[in-house]
Amino acid sequence: MAQIFSPRAGLYAWLVLATLGVAAIVAVLAWRGLTAAPFAVDEPVPQPVPFSHRHHVGDDGIDCRYCHASVETEAFAGIPPVSTCMTCHSQLFTDQPLLAPVVASWESGEPLRWQRVNMLPDFVFFNHSIHVAKGVGCVTCHGRVDRMPLTWRAHSLSMAWCLDCHRNPAPNLRPREAVFDMAWTNEDPQRLGTRLMHEYRIDTSTLTECSTCHR
Ligand code: HEC
Ligand code: HEC
Ligand code: HEC
Ligand code: HEC
Ligand code: HEC
Repeated sequence: MAQIFSPRAGLYAWLVLATLGVAAIVAVLAWRGLTAAPFAVDEPVPQPVPFSHRHHVGDDGIDCRYCHASVETEAFAGIPPVSTCMTCHSQLFTDQPLLAPVVASWESGEPLRWQRVNMLPDFVFFNHSIHVAKGVGCVTCHGRVDRMPLTWRAHSLSMAWCLDCHRNPAPNLRPREAVFDMAWTNEDPQRLGTRLMHEYRIDTSTLTECSTCHR
């Protein structure tokens, strides 16, 4: 009986199967890359130096802007260079092993490589300065940073999370003076928020449009 498939056809079948297999793996990886965040919500992120907001902010009372200097004026909040650490640590705890990477970085000029905690995909536009100017507190999006021994992400940063507030920002607003205050509270957020919506001229008509965040 004649062969139905020539040996060559068998080879092609193998090649097709192998290609499909590779394509499936690539697709799964791409999907994971798109959907999986590098670190889960509430999971402390390991860092080259165990920097503690609990010590520096909670205990020592250093203001956010001392280290995140561009948060009021730019899209990016800013991550402090080692020179900022050295304003204190050229004298304080210089011989502590925990600080060794900071001292080494200062001496070599090689910047510390902090792991990102909060990170949006490239196709999302976000801007810190506008949120700060309109009275959205750091704590609202980042949680009680002043209690974190290592920093973690407090919210999903998903599109639904952004939209939840953009649909109805009022109860999430506070006076501008309280933006950096981690412990600020108010008895009647809806009432205060409604007043601040007017005072800060917040316009919700475009806040849920796709082009606001995808431009
Ligand atoms: C003494 C300097 C210093 C002060 C003060 C400080 N930070 Fe930070 N902050 C850092 C450093 C260093 C990192 C990077 C390491 C890390 O993620 O913990 C960081 C990281 C962060 C991150 C995570 C960044 C990311 O990768 O997503 C947030 C959010 C943050 N800080 C918020 C605050 C807030 C809010 C305040 C004030 C309540 C504050 N920080 C005060 C130094 C500081
Ligand atoms: C305004 C002064 C000041 C600045 C700026 C500062 N520190 Fe500190 N740091 C302190 C003090 C004070 C302590 C002791 C903390 C405590 O026990 O309350 C400390 C302690 C530490 C420790 C020891 C572990 C701990 O948390 O107690 C590390 C590590 C550290 N700092 C890293 C850094 C890094 C990294 C930076 C720069 C991003 C930085 N510090 C900036 C004042 C400062
Ligand atoms: C409306 C929510 C929101 C508020 C309010 C907010 N942040 Fe953020 N923050 C984010 C998001 C989202 C990211 C990730 C941005 C990205 O990947 O482009 C981020 C990232 C950061 C980072 C990492 C560096 C950067 O800019 O990407 C730091 C540091 C930070 N925030 C500090 C602060 C401080 C300090 C405040 C208060 C003055 C603050 N944030 C207020 C949502 C917020
Ligand atoms: C807790 C409330 C809150 C959260 C959460 C929030 N925003 Fe906002 N956002 C605001 C407010 C309030 C404004 C100011 C609106 C105005 O000025 O009319 C604003 C403004 C903006 C603007 C500027 C809009 C313009 O008119 O140019 C962008 C972009 C933006 N947000 C992106 C985001 C993204 C992306 C996220 C999620 C990662 C996010 N926001 C999460 C409250 C929030
Ligand atoms: C307030 C900001 C904001 C607005 C408005 C917004 N998006 Fe998004 N969008 C995001 C964020 C943040 C992400 C990233 C979510 C993540 O990483 O999980 C995202 C992700 C996406 C994705 C990627 C798939 C996914 O779910 O991760 C698509 C597609 C998308 N948005 C479409 C839209 C469309 C269409 C509109 C208008 C109807 C819109 N977005 C309006 C913030 C916004």
